[in-house]
Amino acid sequence: MKLTVDLNGSTRHIDLDATTSLLDWLRSLGLTGTKEGCGIGVCGACTVLVDDLPVSSCLTLIGVLDDRHVVTVEGVADSDPGLVEAFVDCEAMQCGICTPGHVMAAAGARRAGVGLGDDSGDVDEEIRQWLAGNLCRCTGYETIVAAVRSYLER
Ligand code: FES
Ligand code: FES
Repeated sequence: MKLTVDLNGSTRHIDLDATTSLLDWLRSLGLTGTKEGCGIGVCGACTVLVDDLPVSSCLTLIGVLDDRHVVTVEGVADSDPGLVEAFVDCEAMQCGICTPGHVMAAAGARRAGVGLGDDSGDVDEEIRQWLAGNLCRCTGYETIVAAVRSYLER
């Protein structure tokens, strides 16, 4: 199947089996910041943005991406360095396998207007709900929520 995808601001022309996963395609390009955790849409480690919404790239087939916009963690590291800095400043990682997915969920949160609540308690709850699809075995989530809040406030 032939299709055209905007990947991190660059046009890519693809000729692949339509059932290739977005995750496999990205990693075949050397964009290994997107991680495979569960491979079945549960953990969020493979999160990327498609048309500004977070999706699990392990479940997203390349065949649905014609004329869509895909952003990976490499893309936001270049275009929005304050996002990665927020995670570093808040020490929001331990083993790091979940971190790219959380970073991309945070990028989607800003695009969706998450964090525009009236007080910090509501904002934290809003952030937690937004991150519900991204699992972390290490941190207990407090530093991740703090990092996302810090990013949204910047
Ligand atoms: S690897 Fe995609 S959701 Fe876990
Ligand atoms: S830092 Fe290890 S799973 Fe989140």
